[in-house]
Amino acid sequence: MKARTITQGVSWLGAVDWDRRLFDSLIPLPDGTSYNAYLIEGSDKTALLDTVDPAMADVLLSQLKEVARIDYLVSHHAEQDHSGTLPLVLEKYPQAKIVCNPKAKGLLMDMLKLPEGSFLPVEDGETISLGDKSLHFLHTPWVHWPETMVTYLEEDKILFSCDFFGSHIATSELFVSDQGRVYEAAKRYFAEIMMPFRKQIAKNLDKLKDLDISMIAPSHGQIYPDPSFILNAYQDWVHSTPRNTVVLPYVSMHGSTKIMVDSLVSALVERGVRVEQFNLAVTDIGKLAIALVDAGSIVLGTPTIHAGPHPYAAYSALLANALRPKARFLSIIGSYGWGGKTVETLAGMIPNLKVEVLEPVLCKGLPKEQDLQALDKLADSIAGKHQEQEFV
Ligand code: FEO
Repeated sequence: MKARTITQGVSWLGAVDWDRRLFDSLIPLPDGTSYNAYLIEGSDKTALLDTVDPAMADVLLSQLKEVARIDYLVSHHAEQDHSGTLPLVLEKYPQAKIVCNPKAKGLLMDMLKLPEGSFLPVEDGETISLGDKSLHFLHTPWVHWPETMVTYLEEDKILFSCDFFGSHIATSELFVSDQGRVYEAAKRYFAEIMMPFRKQIAKNLDKLKDLDISMIAPSHGQIYPDPSFILNAYQDWVHSTPRNTVVLPYVSMHGSTKIMVDSLVSALVERGVRVEQFNLAVTDIGKLAIALVDAGSIVLGTPTIHAGPHPYAAYSALLANALRPKARFLSIIGSYGWGGKTVETLAGMIPNLKVEVLEPVLCKGLPKEQDLQALDKLADSIAGKHQEQEFV
């Protein structure tokens, strides 16, 4: 795709990656993604904001063919999907300075072998003039690395936010045209990489509060011509109390655990609690991550295999531990053949979760009447706790 004009002197450059299906060898990308870079041409100087994933370097270099000079290469974030083409761009414009958070300098030198003399680190609040356009830099740590920053283009009131407010969508439309679609993609993105850093993100949202923003241009997905849409969504994901919802990732080998899951789901629904159920053998973990953003409780369902939890259940526990959702309660249900340490093993995998653990329900073989009654009791307990916490 060729460069596209956003407003006078401001253009979108970058690559739309329609075919990518996995990020960081972990995160599913059902809708592909894009790596957005932006060219800002002032009356005196020119800046390129971010680059693209090295796999698509040729697309960016082709867009830069007609650009004679670049003075500043702004690197908002050192992760390679944005910085990975910096070495090639610097080779083309050797006089350019890499403008970044001081914390990014070392990371970029380590990861891309960029020369120390090319850097121009900027402090929080610093401004660089391009003549009739001014780049105002704000450090926004932990969205989602420690060195992240954003740029506010003062004259045009555009916030270039890199990963912050991004979404993994490949599309030919530059601006958000379907808010429902973008809401889900942006929530998935928030859940997968931003959720563990909610406290820092809250501080960063506060920092942006006084800016007059006409447009937010992230480095993945579409540009927001209505910034309040994504700013309000982030406020909700970061600050709202958990909902009256149980997220129930489970796996079943011969059906016993599935019977328990069905019984618990039914009991919870009867008690007015919403449930989001995920069969880990087939689920998209991005959907599970989205559900974790609002969950009041998590219940893991697993059979016992080789004396411990099924590896898929262990994976979901490790994932929840890494994502650190707001959930306040957790329990474990499942079936075993002759014994094991399923509960102890899973409990040891979630030290980051600030949850009260509710009495697990494990049964031998097929669930019996007393096991189903124990599941009803667990549903009572969850519904009661949610009510006490006023989850809605
Ligand atoms: Fe889009 Fe953290 O890189």
